[in-house]
Amino acid sequence: MPSAQSPSQSPVPQPVELFTPAFHQDPHGALAALRQTAPAVPVVTPNGLRTWLISGYEQARELLADPRLSKDMRVGRDLIPRNFADPEKQRAFLAESGDHSQFPQVLSVHMLDSDPPDHTRLRRLVGRAFTARRVEALQPRIIEFTDELLDGIAGSERVDLMEALAFPVPFTVICWLLGVPPDDRSEFRRWSNLLVSGAGTPEVRDASVSMIAYLRALIESKRTEPADDILSDLVQVSDEGDQLSDDELISMAFLLLVAGHETTVNLIGNGTLALLQHPAAREQLATDPALWPAAVEEFLRYDGPVTNATWRFTTEPVEVGSVLIPEGEFVTISLGAAGRDPARYSDPDRLDITRSHSASVAFGHGIHHCLGAPLARLEGQIVISRLFARFPALRLAVDSTELRWRSSLMMRGLEELPVLTGR
Ligand code: HEM
Repeated sequence: MPSAQSPSQSPVPQPVELFTPAFHQDPHGALAALRQTAPAVPVVTPNGLRTWLISGYEQARELLADPRLSKDMRVGRDLIPRNFADPEKQRAFLAESGDHSQFPQVLSVHMLDSDPPDHTRLRRLVGRAFTARRVEALQPRIIEFTDELLDGIAGSERVDLMEALAFPVPFTVICWLLGVPPDDRSEFRRWSNLLVSGAGTPEVRDASVSMIAYLRALIESKRTEPADDILSDLVQVSDEGDQLSDDELISMAFLLLVAGHETTVNLIGNGTLALLQHPAAREQLATDPALWPAAVEEFLRYDGPVTNATWRFTTEPVEVGSVLIPEGEFVTISLGAAGRDPARYSDPDRLDITRSHSASVAFGHGIHHCLGAPLARLEGQIVISRLFARFPALRLAVDSTELRWRSSLMMRGLEELPVLTGR
């Protein structure tokens, strides 16, 4: 039981288990119940880590931008053992993760795991390479590649859209951005899958070593033979004599790979599913394609990729409404729960593609607001709109209750999305 006290003396509830298999099947009911319990609720993850869940929109937005909450994982890692409710599970966790981490340090010296001033410096340097012009220039290539994939699907009666469409588009776009040659992509994909699984197995450690060696060599090749890609630009960028070191370049490439495709895959998967389950919205879009940008914003709110959590820890006690979270505790901010807060969105469990979307938190908020949001929106719009235009009779091949969801502490996404193309 955490040693928190409430300023108004209201009792802090017992930690509840979150991220169970039942939760992944339907997180929104569980998150709504927790929102009604308290503004910050202590919860325990399946591997035994104690953390505080934030599920209200206002609180989420405030805490995302609160400098008392840190993302510096070099410090945060040392707090992990302190935040185990069950000593047995802590021992198992430490035995499995060895040095408290399944990733070598070089993969986490990036901006998402750092605070100012490091974050400010990294984001400024990367912002010089990751420009709006570069994203806009990708549009015709993304359209062409999507249409090729749709041609491939057209011959089949039944397909898994995660494998055939939702995964390949964002992954290939990231490979274009990083300048990963086509022949290397299947190996790159294998390491990437292992690394994002988050498991502390020897196989994952081997994948991280291979990934680092590969990225180091790729960076070297961009230095000697610069090409028209973001990694070549990142090697060159400098700001008043400052440049990214090789370790920072490796870490940045890794961040772009993970942040850039894991999330967008699930925007495409969850957004497509939402439309398959809401024929009226589908008809609205068919008659008025100008609604697509708003529809994508609504998919992000209704069942966004980062529904489950973004992570931080407190560097001093932080009051959240009536609850005081002590210093040195983990805080998980559920962006999906924030998007369904009835205090912010009327009838929040209803998909409404005509809703207005100011100040959404689906891409975070504050200094860590998603760097790739314009690219993700572009990919989401192109892929989902072209899919439904090409296959007007597209429908789910199984009952919604048979769909299997991934068990991730951060992401909400489908294992498979089986559909009948109607051909
Ligand atoms: C940060 C969501 C796609 C690159 C974030 C954060 C969120 C997010 C919530 C902030 C996390 C936090 O504060 O803890 C999403 C969603 C996406 C998406 C929902 C797709 C629908 C992308 C893409 C890229 C990207 C396509 C790049 C190619 C980044 C980077 C950061 C970030 C570099 C770190 C920014 C910083 O720390 O300053 N994203 N993202 N994301 N995202 Fe995305």
